[in-house]
Amino acid sequence: MSDEKSFHMTPEEFRRQGRAVVDWIADYYQRIESFPVLSRAKPGEIRAGLPPEPPRQGEPFEAILEEIEKLILPGVTHWQSPNFFAYFPANASGPAILGELLSAGLGVQGMLWATSPACTELETHVLDWLVGMLGLPDKFLSRGPGGGVIQDTASSASLCALLAARERATGFSSNQRGCDGRLVAYTSSQAHSSIEKGVKIAGLGRENLRLIEVDASFAMRPEALAQALDQDRRAGRLPCFVCATVGTTSSNALDPVAAIGRICQAQGVWLHVDAAMSGTAALCPEFRHLHNGVELADSYCFNPHKWMFTNFDCDCFYVADRKALIETLSVLPEYLRTRASESGAVIDYRDWQIPLGRRFRALKLWFVIRHYGVEGLRHHIRRHVELAQRFAAWVGEDERFELAAPAPLNLVCFRHRGGDAANQTLMDRLNQSGHLYLTHTRLNDRLTLRLAVGQTHTEARHVERAWKRIQEEAARLS
Ligand SMILES: Cc1ncc(COP(=O)(O)O)c(C=O)c1O
Repeated sequence: MSDEKSFHMTPEEFRRQGRAVVDWIADYYQRIESFPVLSRAKPGEIRAGLPPEPPRQGEPFEAILEEIEKLILPGVTHWQSPNFFAYFPANASGPAILGELLSAGLGVQGMLWATSPACTELETHVLDWLVGMLGLPDKFLSRGPGGGVIQDTASSASLCALLAARERATGFSSNQRGCDGRLVAYTSSQAHSSIEKGVKIAGLGRENLRLIEVDASFAMRPEALAQALDQDRRAGRLPCFVCATVGTTSSNALDPVAAIGRICQAQGVWLHVDAAMSGTAALCPEFRHLHNGVELADSYCFNPHKWMFTNFDCDCFYVADRKALIETLSVLPEYLRTRASESGAVIDYRDWQIPLGRRFRALKLWFVIRHYGVEGLRHHIRRHVELAQRFAAWVGEDERFELAAPAPLNLVCFRHRGGDAANQTLMDRLNQSGHLYLTHTRLNDRLTLRLAVGQTHTEARHVERAWKRIQEEAARLS
């Protein structure tokens, strides 16, 4: 035993408190339905409960854990509640949480292969597994010129794709000299806001993002894309990037990737496919049609941290040509040189992403895939889709309501026929009740309610109760 003065937690204390934290988390999941799903905290209320100054002396761990209960939980919106139907799922699971804990315990920073070979090689391996599991094209496998990497978010993945597209279109000269205002990017008017953010960050300029019109199902119209590309070329601009969405955030619309891909191929424009939430559905062969046309894409991403039971953050990003991505992002200072990198025999993921540092995220994904197996994952995804479809059928049968968009998977967009004010009141009352949480969008300029089924523990009884509560509040409207 060292006799040096230390404030560190001893291994014995860590063992004891670690068990207490795991117990706390297990209890949390057991009582999660007793909390109002949407936090009732008022702005500033959580901070007001916290001590104004940090402690001079360390405090007992028990006291800290107690304050989680008293001070923090009231300000938590319970994303893991089976009654959470808002936005999109950000689901988690036991194996994912334990994988995350192990990642923190190992404390690895895997920026280079050499800084922890297992961090890189497990990631490459699991991402190759997922190519097969989702029926993605072989060109995304690491054994060829392509490959996959874990990014923090779909926003980062799309930004990396856009940067590589920008460089490919300019022969890597915009990295040297900056953008000249001629580069143009394209996505549908329903695409996620991260594409617009990426265009701003990548220096293309917001005016050089074309939001292509959509059809009645809110999917991109390929002929409108072709027209916009032609127009820009005629005006001397340089189209460089198209993003198609498989499952838009607003209404789960599925862009026709094959038709879009053919246009991109003919024009030599980089096609990125954003399948952030819905890509997971392709685990099930019956939903694999979602990926029709992805073989024409230069890059693709989906988020296990949305619908694949892997806690935030974990986005899987694939490129068909990793050289373009690496050449775009690589900067090599002397202090990062290693013999392994120079041998060309290893992957250094630092060159595949914006930050240098990276966590051992593959562990949680590996744990999830091994715990559930492909069959287990398919079972739960199918169940979520089935429950959403059941909900959509109930909406269709109730004459007070209407479906606002096709519901191909686990998201149902619907509205009360009473107009925007009625829908707003309905949603506010439901969310204030604490029984469930759902959010809205605007479709055809009308307020639309969204019910996304995807929480790990959501079962038939939760969706049934949600519908019952919606009907009760609808009755109160009139
Ligand atoms: C289609 C789509 N793309 C991108 C995103 C952004 O995801 P992330 O938080 O991983 O950047 C979302 C969800 O927020 C989404 O639904």
